[in-house]
Amino acid sequence: MAYNLLKGKKGIIFGALNSQSIAWKVAERAHAEGAQMVLTNTPIAIRMGELDELAESTGSLMIPADATSVKDLENLFAKTMEAFDGKIDFVLHSIGMSPNVRKKIPYDDLNYEYFSKTLDISAMSFHKMIQTAKKMDALNEWGSIVGLSYIAAQRTLYEYNDMADAKAVLESIARSFGYIYGREKHVRINTISQSPTPTTAGQGVKGFNALIDFTERMSPLGNATGDECADYCVTLFSDLTKKVTMQNLFHDGGFSSMGMSERAMTQYNKSLECKNCQDNPLNVE
Ligand SMILES: NC(=O)c1ccc[n+]([C@@H]2O[C@H](COP(=O)([O-])OP(=O)(O)OC[C@H]3O[C@@H](n4cnc5c(N)ncnc54)[C@H](O)[C@@H]3O)[C@@H](O)[C@H]2O)c1
Repeated sequence: MAYNLLKGKKGIIFGALNSQSIAWKVAERAHAEGAQMVLTNTPIAIRMGELDELAESTGSLMIPADATSVKDLENLFAKTMEAFDGKIDFVLHSIGMSPNVRKKIPYDDLNYEYFSKTLDISAMSFHKMIQTAKKMDALNEWGSIVGLSYIAAQRTLYEYNDMADAKAVLESIARSFGYIYGREKHVRINTISQSPTPTTAGQGVKGFNALIDFTERMSPLGNATGDECADYCVTLFSDLTKKVTMQNLFHDGGFSSMGMSERAMTQYNKSLECKNCQDNPLNVE
């Protein structure tokens, strides 16, 4: 059901790669709520991915930008304002990538060149994007910026690797810049800490299947899906949340407040009963 929550609003969506992407679902939902959008991703992702399909179904423009390049970001904001004939109301940062994760390099043997790349792509790009928008005065007063995060910023989760550090930086940027942009232009900046979600980036994390099963069993409301994340993003872009800023907002079915659940305990007990079983679920890699 649509509520016209974003009628007349204009936004930029970073990070839609394919129909599984959280950003893809946000773009579809924002379109249904009446928003006009520019979709952006790296030039290679635009060439190799399916973004033109989304651009067509949502009537959006596509402008390539590597989010680590300030030059690309300047071009993106300039072209977007030109196309909209005005400023922007909302921005979604839905970007994450770790070469260490991709190459299965463990956290106690990190390649530091890759680590820098992880931080640049997954966290510093958030700062670059916000700083560029502010310098160009590209956002309307009471605009909204949302970045996507994960609970590994606060808690250690096996195999999340250097992405955990990137998420901690991302969430900190939302607070540090949220103060400045809020004070000067009433622009709000928040991060949403989303449940594990089966996307290209999500499934790249080792042990993803076991993780998503664990969080499903631990969360009283179950894992939050990508579509539900899109619903939440739309509320943060809307005028209904004008005084929410500098927050990391958990969207995880209650997982972040749990210690142990009955469903997880039942599964854990099964594995204890059958220590050497082939189908021991804790052997899932
Ligand atoms: N999937 C999950 O389990 C999960 C959980 C919590 C948070 N998140 C976060 O959600 C966000 C979106 O990820 P997703 O799960 O939809 O996966 P995804 O793979 O669909 O999206 C990641 C996007 O980042 C883009 N990207 C990579 N490098 C870039 C660069 N230099 N410039 C611009 N874009 C670049 C990719 O092209 C891709 O579109 C990420 O920040 C991710 O960490 C995902």
